[in-house]
Amino acid sequence: MAKTLIINGKSVSVQAAPDTPLLWVLRDELELTGTKYGCGIAQCGACTVHIDGTATRSCVTPISALDGVKITTIEGLEGVHPLQAAWVEADVPQCGYCQSGQLMSASALLAKTPHPTDADIDDAMNGNICRCGCYQRIRAAIKVAAARAAAPVAA
Ligand code: FES
Ligand code: FES
Repeated sequence: MAKTLIINGKSVSVQAAPDTPLLWVLRDELELTGTKYGCGIAQCGACTVHIDGTATRSCVTPISALDGVKITTIEGLEGVHPLQAAWVEADVPQCGYCQSGQLMSASALLAKTPHPTDADIDDAMNGNICRCGCYQRIRAAIKVAAARAAAPVAA
């Protein structure tokens, strides 16, 4: 039976069974492959998306739990998100595999906490594993994006 999901601002009809994890609907049915599979058990953060603005592991979220909620994937971040610009400038990624999940967790953090402390960043990013060890550059880029957002706009 078809089910309607709201993804990146659009209503889309999907055919998967109700217990199918959102991750597989995104990747296999909708071809939104920016969201990655890492562990499948909510331990790595590679599959992170936003559900009503909250960073959520799509690998353990069945589509039956998603009635009426807004789902945002890395493809749905608006324009070039300030974090993405900071990411590029700081040359954050190494292999890149974890990076969409990192950006989704970081963008959920800044949306709720525009001026995060180190503890806020640790808390928000704690579940996002990077095998390449880019943690220092990720932290620096989050701070750059937050500082830019706080800076007064020139007249
Ligand atoms: S694939 Fe979902 S947390 Fe690892
Ligand atoms: S950049 Fe390689 S796993 Fe994070």
